[in-house]
Amino acid sequence: MCGIVAYVGKRRCRDYIIRGLKRLEYRGYDSAGFICVDEKHKRFSYFKKSGKVSDLEKGLDGFEHDGFVGMGHTRWATHGVVNDCNAHPHFNCKKNISLVHNGIIEGYEEIRKKLIFEGHEFVSSTDTEVVAHYFSSIFDFYKDLKPAILDLVSKLKGAYSFVLSMEEYPDQIVVVRHNSPLVLGKLEDEIFVASDLLAFSDKTKNVCFLPEDSFAIIKKDSVDMYDFSGKKILPIWQEVKFEFDAVDKQGFEHYMLKEIYEQKKVIDNTINFCRLIGTDSKLSANTKKDNSVDYKIDLEYQDRIWQQLGLSLKQVKNLKKVNLVAAGTSWHACRIAQFFFENFCKIPASVYLASEFCYMPLFNHEDSVYIFVSQSGETADTLQALRKVSPLSIPTITITNVPSSTMVREADGFFPMQAGPEISVASTKAFSSQISVLYLLANRIALEKGLISLEEMKRAEDDLFVSAQILEQSIENYKYKITQKLANKYSKFDKFIFLGRHISYPFAMEAALKLKEISYIFAQCYPAGELKHGPIALIDKSTPVVLFSSLHEIVYKKIISNAQEVKARSGHLVVFAFDGQDELINLANTSFIVPRVNPFLGPLAMTGLMQFFIYQITKKLGCSIDKPRNLAKSVTVE
Ligand code: M6R
Repeated sequence: MCGIVAYVGKRRCRDYIIRGLKRLEYRGYDSAGFICVDEKHKRFSYFKKSGKVSDLEKGLDGFEHDGFVGMGHTRWATHGVVNDCNAHPHFNCKKNISLVHNGIIEGYEEIRKKLIFEGHEFVSSTDTEVVAHYFSSIFDFYKDLKPAILDLVSKLKGAYSFVLSMEEYPDQIVVVRHNSPLVLGKLEDEIFVASDLLAFSDKTKNVCFLPEDSFAIIKKDSVDMYDFSGKKILPIWQEVKFEFDAVDKQGFEHYMLKEIYEQKKVIDNTINFCRLIGTDSKLSANTKKDNSVDYKIDLEYQDRIWQQLGLSLKQVKNLKKVNLVAAGTSWHACRIAQFFFENFCKIPASVYLASEFCYMPLFNHEDSVYIFVSQSGETADTLQALRKVSPLSIPTITITNVPSSTMVREADGFFPMQAGPEISVASTKAFSSQISVLYLLANRIALEKGLISLEEMKRAEDDLFVSAQILEQSIENYKYKITQKLANKYSKFDKFIFLGRHISYPFAMEAALKLKEISYIFAQCYPAGELKHGPIALIDKSTPVVLFSSLHEIVYKKIISNAQEVKARSGHLVVFAFDGQDELINLANTSFIVPRVNPFLGPLAMTGLMQFFIYQITKKLGCSIDKPRNLAKSVTVE
C-alpha cells in the first residue's frame, strides 16, 4: 500500500529517496512522486507520475534539482483514479506547503466543501490535498507550527501518517502519526523517515517508532516530539535486531517461486525456534534401560514461552477459549488452526475476519485469549481489532513476521514467525509458517493442560518436520507434469470451483484466493457439503472443480460422495488426495497424490504443490506474479 520516504540531513536526498521507494515497491502502488527543497533557491522542486518508481526515476533524469530536505511517496489509489495529478506530493494554493500521506481521511468531503467556500482551489480528487489546504488555512491563523499541527490533528478523523514540508522552514519537516505507522532512523546530522523501516534499513539500524498519536518537528540534528495534547515526549531510539534487508530472487524467476521453495526451511526454523524458547529445550530426555525415553521438564524454560506470549502458566492451564483474528491468507491459516485448538486443547476456538470484527459485540470472557495473526503486523483491519480488545482485561497476542510492527508493540505478547521477508504480494511461506506456529502453540497448551504427554508433544513436532519434507518433495514429484502439461491445460479455463471439507475447507479457500489474486481467473470456494444446496447448478465441463481430500476417515467418505456428485454431472474433477485414496483418485480427470501425514497437517503437506500448480498456471498467462494488479502487500487502510 502507500509508502512514505523522507530525509533531512547533510547529504543530497534524491538518490536515497528513490532507493527507499524502490525498497517499498513490493507493498504495491500505482504512482510515485518526489519533492525536495531545492538547495539553491530554497523552493520546492518536484515530479510525480502514475506508474512505477522507475518511471519517476526516468522523469527525474535531467532534473538538476536536489536538496538536503526531501520526501517521496508511492500511492495506492483510494480516493481518486490513478493519474499524475492524484499522485503525491500535494500542495496548498500557494504551493509553499507540501504533503505526502498514507491512510484515509474520513469526512474529507465536508472539509473540502468548507475550504472551497473559503476560496481554496483544488486540483486533485484526493483526501490528501484537503489536508494540505486545511493545514495552510490553520497555519495562516497561528503562524506557528506546533499549535497549527495540534489544531489540525484535533480536527482530522480517520487513519493517517504524513510528512509535511514548508518553504518557509526549508531545513525541517514535520511528521505526524495517527493509526498508520511511521519510523525514524538516525545517523549523525541525518534523519531518515519512512512508513516501513525497510526503506532505510541499509542506512541505519538506530530507529525510533513514532508513537501513536504523536508528531515531530525534525531538523538534521534534532527531533522535537509531542503527543496530540501538546506534551513534549522523549524519542525512544533503539537498535533494531531484526532487519528486512533487500533480498534478491536468488536465481528464481519470481519471489513467489523462491518463497514457495523456502517453506520447508521456514517450518524447520519454526520448530527449532519453539524449541529454543521452551518447547523442547525444556525437555531432558533420558533413555531408560528398556529403551523407552523418560522426558523431564525444566521449569525455567517452561515459563519462557509463556512470558514471550504475555501469559502466566496459570492462565495457560485455565484457558477456556481461544479467539483468532486475521485477514486474507492469515485468516485461512487461523481457520485451519481452529481444528488444532478444538481437538488438541479441547477448548472452543472462534475465528474472526478482522474487517468484520470491529462491528461485533465484544464479550469479556474470563480465561480467554485473543490471538492476532498477521504476516505484516500492520494490516489496518487486524490492528483495529487488536485495539478494540486491548482496553479489556483479556490477554492479547500477536503472531507476525515483522517484530518491529505496530501489532507487536500494542499486544501483550508476541510470537515471531520465522518466515523471513516475504516479498511477493501473494502470501505463501507466511501461510505455512502461521500454520506451524499455531500447531505448535496448540500442542503446547494441550501439554500444559495435561491433555498430551511430553512424548506426544515430541511426536507432534516430528509430524511437523515430516509434513515440511512432504510439502517440498511433492512439488518435485509433480514439477515436470505441471510445467510440461498441466499448467498449459488449466490456464485455458476462465473459472474454477474449489471444494474442501472439515480442515480441507479453509485450505480450499486459500487455494481459491491464490488463484484469483495472481491469475485473475474467477474462482469460487464452497464447503463440499454445500454443493448440493445450490452451487451444483454451476457444474459443467468448462468449470474445473478442484477438490481437496482429507485424512479424516469419515470426512474422506463424504468427499468421495461429493466427487461422485461432480462426475455424475459431467464435471471436470481435479483432486488433491493422499496416498491410497484410490476410490477418489479414480474419479478424477487430474489427480495430485501426496504421502500420508498426521491428518491435522494434511493441508500443510499439500501447500507447496497447490501453490506451485497455481503459480505455473499464472506464469502461462503471463501475469505480473509478484505484484498482481490492484493489490498491496501490506493493507494499511481499513
Ligand atoms: O499482513 P497480513 O497477514 O495481515 O495480511 C493479510 C492479507 O492482506 C493477506 O494475507 C492477503 O490476503 C494476501 N495477499 C494473500 O496472498
